[in-house]
Amino acid sequence: MKKLRIGIILGGMSSEREVSLNSGRNVHDNLDPELYGAVPIFMDAEGRLWVIPWQLISQNTTLDISDHLEGEARRIAYEDLKREIDFAFISLHGKYGDDGCIQGLLELLNIPYTGPGVLASALGMDKHLQQKVLMSEGIDVPRSMVVTAWDWRERREAVQKEILERFSFPFFTKPTREGSSVGVTRVDDPAGLAAGIDAALQWDNAALVEEYLDGIEFSAIVLEDDGEARVLELTEIYPQSAYYTYDDKYMPGRCRKFTPPKNIPRETADRIRESVLRAYHALGFRSYGRIDGFCLKDGRILITDPNSSSGMAPSSFFFEQAASAGLLPGMIISALIRNALAIHRDKKGPL
Ligand SMILES: Nc1ncnc2c1ncn2[C@@H]1O[C@H](COP(=O)(O)OP(=O)(O)O)[C@@H](O)[C@H]1O
Ligand SMILES: [Mg+2]
Repeated sequence: MKKLRIGIILGGMSSEREVSLNSGRNVHDNLDPELYGAVPIFMDAEGRLWVIPWQLISQNTTLDISDHLEGEARRIAYEDLKREIDFAFISLHGKYGDDGCIQGLLELLNIPYTGPGVLASALGMDKHLQQKVLMSEGIDVPRSMVVTAWDWRERREAVQKEILERFSFPFFTKPTREGSSVGVTRVDDPAGLAAGIDAALQWDNAALVEEYLDGIEFSAIVLEDDGEARVLELTEIYPQSAYYTYDDKYMPGRCRKFTPPKNIPRETADRIRESVLRAYHALGFRSYGRIDGFCLKDGRILITDPNSSSGMAPSSFFFEQAASAGLLPGMIISALIRNALAIHRDKKGPL
């Protein structure tokens, strides 16, 4: 039997391209060679696609890979992707990666792929719009206020005044569309306010100001199997910094994570899983997703960060929760591909 050619797309144009390399490398190394043929596809910083030899994914950074492209890799046009692969395992994160862009391209080429479709991916990326959708479905989200780059330029004083009236310290500022805690600031005093908004606006044209949530942070992987979405065991997060920063997320040995949770009672964990599942469906997610939030001291459950993709490094939430369900990395990757193929087979128009 001819093996299905799985294009593992990694790298990309976003601030999370190094995270993507880690994810893609791990997916590649755990792809079942009996069932699938791996085709590593590198997206460079300009969005061009290259079929790279597997040896290159062991390079440490996307820049190191880029140094080897001319000569060792094969540049392909977008439409040639159809000739190279039968299925796309999207290991990209962030802008152009899990925000609907690459999904749109794959739809046009009629190549099935992992994760949600165009609109759901875009919603998963946009923290402002996803809150509106979740609220309309009665799902609790943090209180927030959006500040556009125009607001900040043209009416800064009024905006600052409004923020100080509506939020007490500390509060959070973040870009509407980023990930991996890039551009996120915990603002502790008036002096930090402008720096927080400026930092967020470096990454997008709008910033979100959010009330501070004092509680336990959790992360939940949702996996669709045979048409039914189910939530894996939750992970409770204990950052070593003031919040869950980029270093906490990716530096080895830095952050404590408990799967199953240590301090969330079973009954609360069940309610969290219920909210997570509702959020998954409200946003139109398919295939899989990772939905993060907080459980507050008063028992309220808030959804803060629904993601249409998840980091897939060895000790990521994805593989930690899979392990808790008795699934080896190779098993869950195969299940993801099998289920995504079924989802794309049944769709009417773009996913
Ligand atoms: N409103 C908030 N209250 C408390 N902590 C927050 C809040 N917003 C973000 N954080 C902290 O910052 C981290 C990154 O923010 P998040 O909104 O999840 O952005 P990203 O998409 O970059 O992961 C979270 O994991 C959490 O630890
Ligand atoms: Mg997050």
